[in-house]
Amino acid sequence: MTPDEKKQQVARAALEHIVPGTVIGVGTGSTANYFVDALAQIKNKIEGTVASSNATAERLKSHGIPVFELNSVDEISVYIDGADESNRYLHLIKGGGGALTREKIVAAVSTRFVCIADDSKLVDVLGKFPLPVEVIPMARSYVARQLVKLGGQPIWREGVTTDNGNVILDVHHLEIAEPVKLESEINQIVGVVTNGLFAKRPADILLLGTDTGVKVLD
Ligand code: 5RP
Repeated sequence: MTPDEKKQQVARAALEHIVPGTVIGVGTGSTANYFVDALAQIKNKIEGTVASSNATAERLKSHGIPVFELNSVDEISVYIDGADESNRYLHLIKGGGGALTREKIVAAVSTRFVCIADDSKLVDVLGKFPLPVEVIPMARSYVARQLVKLGGQPIWREGVTTDNGNVILDVHHLEIAEPVKLESEINQIVGVVTNGLFAKRPADILLLGTDTGVKVLD
């Protein structure tokens, strides 16, 4: 199976985790896009969605799926999104698509977080994938210097502006032994909006696409 076939497999499997009649959160990226396409088949079963990026909102609307502003919604039953890496404890690195801040907000509001990914994303130790950090533009150089002190090598994702009008630093060469601790340490740096570690609020369940079917980790 190709990685794309595995992503499609888990995107379809995620439909089983939808709570009928509720608002669901939808993530960003190629796996989340496959989920949106699958969701279109059962769109009448849900009240609507909250999207974690403008790109996802556009894709949802193109299928005729209602998209609500988060501030007009009291509850999100389940959040479905991909990841760049996951460890066995469902701590994630996210933000390869630059949507990490809105993804973290929607995940925080959601009762349950179902992560969907192909099996290449499961790792023993997080950090091979460069950790995305969203930063207020004027603080970029200062934040980069602080990230070097934490042992990383930040690279500015030039030409990219997030949906929130900020910039992204991708931090290379981190071996993340303590994801919860590093997540809070980076968030303490003045000028950081958020970072792509989802460890304080990990996924609740991980659906992994494999050659032999969907593997469930929880
Ligand atoms: C976007 C994300 C995505 O979930 C992550 O980059 C995985 O993407 P893909 O499903 O395309 O492999 O965090 O900000």
